[in-house]
Amino acid sequence: MTDHVLVAVEGGVMTLTFNRPDKKNAITDAMYGVLADGLTRAESDPAIRAVLFNSNGDSFTSGNDLSDFAAANAGTASGAIGDERNVGRFLKCLARANKPLVAAVRGLGVGVGTTMLLHCDLVYIADTAKLTVPFVNLALVPEAASSLTLPSRIGHARAYAMFALGEAVDGKTAAAWGIANQALPEDEVDARALLAAQTLAKRPLGALTLTKSLMRDAEQLATRMDEEGVHFAARLKTAEAAEALTAFRERRPADFSKVG
Ligand code: COA
Repeated sequence: MTDHVLVAVEGGVMTLTFNRPDKKNAITDAMYGVLADGLTRAESDPAIRAVLFNSNGDSFTSGNDLSDFAAANAGTASGAIGDERNVGRFLKCLARANKPLVAAVRGLGVGVGTTMLLHCDLVYIADTAKLTVPFVNLALVPEAASSLTLPSRIGHARAYAMFALGEAVDGKTAAAWGIANQALPEDEVDARALLAAQTLAKRPLGALTLTKSLMRDAEQLATRMDEEGVHFAARLKTAEAAEALTAFRERRPADFSKVG
């Protein structure tokens, strides 16, 4: 199970690689556990000076594994986003990270595959990549403090269209809107992001971490995650979410006219 996220440390850079390509790198709670453990270790290990997220296969990640959501909907899993599960731990690690986070994004970045980028300090993206945050399509609400970070990054109207209409944003647009630093040909993304992480690893760490902490309010982000999490967990148990998740499983469009 743990090989669905690969962890490597070299030259001061911890690389966390999504490695479940047959499921478009959908993230299970066990995978969130490996990610959270990695970020926790990175914060306390002086040998780690930057963290790089990347992926194997054709997608960055298709977001939370929908079978975990279905289990929460059916009442066979506890909560879905609270701190008691690894996903909550991972999100809080993102909010409170002081060391630099870099992302290399190719292919799809769905849900948390996009919202986690808003906690990264440098993002390199394939010009053909596709970012979506289809929480409303799933009858859910935004997570990872994205109800705060996405509108503040790209403006309310664009963020609302992404959340409420499920509109996709390609890599070039993501760079133009400030979600990413640079859009590149797909085969150049991984090397560019690694170079950026290696460059950061050589910078004075004290100055880097203080600069980051001055640029963002980690506790405000964590508080918003808690607020979203309450609604997210409640929404997961609704008939609307059941219809969305059943439709995904049955490979058909959801029909919300059938539910309240
Ligand atoms: N959770 C669980 N399984 C997922 C998944 C997810 N988030 N995303 C993809 N998969 C699985 C599919 O079920 C399929 O499994 P199978 O081969 O056993 O049937 C496999 O990954 C390949 O996905 P598929 O749907 O066939 O690929 P596609 O290229 O047609 O579509 C997506 C890719 C990502 C657009 C589509 O799978 C999708 O919409 N996934 C759900 C994304 C989502 O809503 N994430 C949560 C956001 S909050």
